Amino acid sequence: MDPKTVKSDLVLILDYGSQYTHLITRRIRSLSVFSLCVSGTSSLATITDLNPSVVILSGGPHSVHTPDSPSFPDGFLPWALSHDIPVLGICYGLQLLVQRLGGVVRVGHKQEYGRMEICVDKPSALFPSGKVGKRQVVWMSHGDEAATLPDGFHVIARSDQGAVAAIENPSAKLYGLQYHPEVTHTEEGMETLRHFLFDVCGVEAGWNMEDVMEEEIKVINDSVGPDEHVICALSGGVDSTVAATLVHKAIGDRLHCVFVDNGLLRYKERERVMETFEKDLHLPVVCVDAVDQFLTKLKGVTDPETKRKIIGKEFICIFDAFAQELEGKLGKKPAYLVQGTLYPDVIESCPPPGTGRTHSHTIKSHHNVGGLPKDMKLKLIEPLKLLFKDEVRQLGRILDVPEAFLKRHPFPGPGLAVRVLGDVTEGNALDILRQVDEIFIQSIKDAGLYDSIWQAFAVFLPVRSVGVQGDQRTHSHVVALRAVTSQDGMTADWYYFEHKFLDDVSRKICNGIRGVNRVVQDITSKPPSTIEWE
Ligand code: XMP
Repeated sequence: MDPKTVKSDLVLILDYGSQYTHLITRRIRSLSVFSLCVSGTSSLATITDLNPSVVILSGGPHSVHTPDSPSFPDGFLPWALSHDIPVLGICYGLQLLVQRLGGVVRVGHKQEYGRMEICVDKPSALFPSGKVGKRQVVWMSHGDEAATLPDGFHVIARSDQGAVAAIENPSAKLYGLQYHPEVTHTEEGMETLRHFLFDVCGVEAGWNMEDVMEEEIKVINDSVGPDEHVICALSGGVDSTVAATLVHKAIGDRLHCVFVDNGLLRYKERERVMETFEKDLHLPVVCVDAVDQFLTKLKGVTDPETKRKIIGKEFICIFDAFAQELEGKLGKKPAYLVQGTLYPDVIESCPPPGTGRTHSHTIKSHHNVGGLPKDMKLKLIEPLKLLFKDEVRQLGRILDVPEAFLKRHPFPGPGLAVRVLGDVTEGNALDILRQVDEIFIQSIKDAGLYDSIWQAFAVFLPVRSVGVQGDQRTHSHVVALRAVTSQDGMTADWYYFEHKFLDDVSRKICNGIRGVNRVVQDITSKPPSTIEWE
């Protein structure tokens, strides 16, 4: 997806490393305005090339007094001024504006963190006259504060302690908020952003998924030549399915998808997923049965990292063989590979000074199974790389991907290998796990809880314990149930089931599945745990 082709005004966020930066992007997109986030130290050419209608300088954990603190490039403010581009500084962004324009930022007398009240001082562009004298609850997080403002600026709101809370220089279209309008704790934050974008800056809302889809199809058609072929590995998850459906809409059957049964799939997953691909999505998918290939390589392996590496390597071998087979059939090697990479995977962020890290594309490598080989000759098509997960779901809806598919809980690329602790080939661990998982998930669906839970699954533990079933002592397996709520999988909390629900599920599992005599529930959050067990 090419940001320059998007039919909507662009609000560009320069990121100075605040934990809330991506939230600004999301809030603006929720107002149907396209927003992107780039590093706060991007070159002037990068910024001007994107042709933004508004620029927002994010917050960040830095102090403008630190010698290596990040800042926008020289020439940025003159460019913004001469092109009539409004600039809003948030928190550290406000302090940068003040300092770079010749004002003074000092270490605050009292640092302000968390929820507090501010009061609007005078009528202004940011706060229209009806707001004067009114108090607002906002979320502050700063040590430094603006002490002397640059020429042309006024204070328009202050905190109860007298610190500068909002400033503006309307004739230069420069604005600053010391607090974070993007967090929900700032009660009027969304309204302030809306007013700023539409009333103060005159931004036009125009970001919608129908346009994104059309633009995306055009970009794919422009880049993939008329006789070129593309391959895509479908996992059965939302991202790869939506990406493949989109590419298929663009280039038709020059897209060749492969679905690998690695023996680590869930109960009847291969049949269910293949049926959806064929019947509902009409996607041309080849199913490769690689159960023996994977399980032979995994025999006796207990170390989680080694398991992942083996699985990654096998996947790549299968993709290679698939590409070669296609070359034989088509007389031409496929030149492109579709990946369902999402925006959170590629977003650049500005790390705090002193960490030694530079701005970089941080790909969560363990979430892209095995990574890609360094000498890969295939060119990548990543049509979702500017979208968040919920936007991918919206796009999927427009593409008629069935709702049940779009709402599926995430499933890791290495599959059940990360849910059988120890050797996955030991005994009938995989079969037991598949059945337990099916009972658990089906019970969740029957109870109407599936959509309130972010991810749920069962885990097979490599221990046996003594039980008594049908008057006989047993020495059978223990399985664990895990269900979490989360926003994005980065942090998670365990889900509170009613006792009756847990009781029913536990009975169904122990009565229905041979080899299990004990069911436990995982009641840890992430951190300190992860979501998967491994
Ligand atoms: P953890 O266990 O790291 O997982 O807390 C966070 C989320 O990521 C999923 N996950 C993966 N997804 N390939 C994937 O496609 C992987 O290797 C992988 N490992 C974990 C996990 O299921 C959860 O949704």
